Amino acid sequence: MRIAVLTDSHYSSTEATTCGARQTGIADILMRRAAFRLNRLLRPDVVILLGDMVNAGHLASGQDDLRTLWQHVKLISSPVIAIPGNHDGPVDDFYQVAPRPAPIVDIAGVRFVVNLDPERPGYNAFREECDLARLVEARQDWRGPIVTLQHVPAFPLGLHSCPYNYVNATAVTAAEAAAGVTLSLSGHYHPGFDPLNADGVTYLAAPALCEGAFPITLIDLDEKGGLTISHENLKMPETAGLVDTHVHTRYAYCNENMEPNRIAAFAHAFGLAEFRLSEHSGHLLHTCPDYYRAQDATIPAPAENRRLDAYLAEMAAADIPAAWTGLEIDCRHDGTPLLAPADWERIPFRIGALHQMPSIHRRLDVSQETLRDEFLGLMERFLQYDFFSLAHPFRVFRRAKLPIPPGCFSPLVRMLKETDTAAEINFHTNEPPVEFFRECLDAGVKVTLGSDAHNLYEVGDFALHLDFLKRCGFNGDWRDIIRA
Ligand SMILES: [Fe+2]
Ligand SMILES: [Fe+2]
Ligand SMILES: [Fe+2]
Repeated sequence: MRIAVLTDSHYSSTEATTCGARQTGIADILMRRAAFRLNRLLRPDVVILLGDMVNAGHLASGQDDLRTLWQHVKLISSPVIAIPGNHDGPVDDFYQVAPRPAPIVDIAGVRFVVNLDPERPGYNAFREECDLARLVEARQDWRGPIVTLQHVPAFPLGLHSCPYNYVNATAVTAAEAAAGVTLSLSGHYHPGFDPLNADGVTYLAAPALCEGAFPITLIDLDEKGGLTISHENLKMPETAGLVDTHVHTRYAYCNENMEPNRIAAFAHAFGLAEFRLSEHSGHLLHTCPDYYRAQDATIPAPAENRRLDAYLAEMAAADIPAAWTGLEIDCRHDGTPLLAPADWERIPFRIGALHQMPSIHRRLDVSQETLRDEFLGLMERFLQYDFFSLAHPFRVFRRAKLPIPPGCFSPLVRMLKETDTAAEINFHTNEPPVEFFRECLDAGVKVTLGSDAHNLYEVGDFALHLDFLKRCGFNGDWRDIIRA
């Protein structure tokens, strides 16, 4: 049984990006990133939100913020149990937005007891007699583990220096011990505290999502009631010097919120050393409806549709270094790049990408062998042009809901090696093939990490990439294999 805890996101759309240590203004993006991480990597059985989801829930704007935040929470594919904190406004208002859990919820053999206790001065709390009694009830017909949920930490007096507790902590902890509670789980205290053990109960305060490295707390509960507690940070380890070589901007037709000044702020917040903008060449030269046609045929690129110069000027105005402002250059139907030679010379950073193949675009019914030969023929010509990396090498098949034709991996590895082009690991609507990247690493082909961010939550999110490298059998120093 895996429990994931997200607590104290303190989202505020009206406050500055930071409020002391709290990154209130970006907490909506943090929640979206957390949802993605949970769904694609951590896969918990249940996600617990322990309150203070917004910073000012007593205001009308705070209730709007809660609705905004909930749009991201709804993306989480596991069951979610949410309780309000002292920042979320009245309990009934909170549950106008979040679904109200039953007082006792059983999931995958674990019983969760939900406590909505009143606040007391000094940011403390109080548990009513009837709620203490509910714990006795919860144990009566249940032999499995019980986990209690509350916003303010409940723990035996003197066991930790956390300044917040229940004003009747002795009664609360005695009731939890008597009921054989396995875990008493709280938020509210932003640094959190490591597990405290007393009378068979483990007391844990999960750290705030909106501070530090933006942690998610994971609790793995084994059959015998043993607990393994860890933290999964949304921020990348700064010491790793990671570079995101594939970030889009508001110039991508498919972008959602990629304003250039916010890209730089998020790259910093998420612990990247550097980033590169890799905007679609075809989006900067053609209209959205013409984009795919421009890859499949030679069509005019009228001056009025050209946005390449505006893109370069806007990124420079946002203080993004020219050397970091590049293009994701589309491969055309004949293996030539979708960019005129005069423009090519002006772009210091170039990654190549195949987004469309003639027989797929034209819906031709061809064999796997024909598809393989067409793919390899295009790559043979395209990679001669000198790219830093090849973006998402086989995604063109995935997008078309086709298997990768057998026989593609080794020839492409050879071409990448010969042209000194790195292979990009990319999870944006993609699952890179492990076998191919194993071959790349064996052959000494460098890899790059690309988020392919079209939304700020994706910038520099390499948890899947780094996990993927392990799955490829790589356990050494990333700097040995990553081109940055
Ligand atoms: Fe709180
Ligand atoms: Fe792409
Ligand atoms: Fe891209």
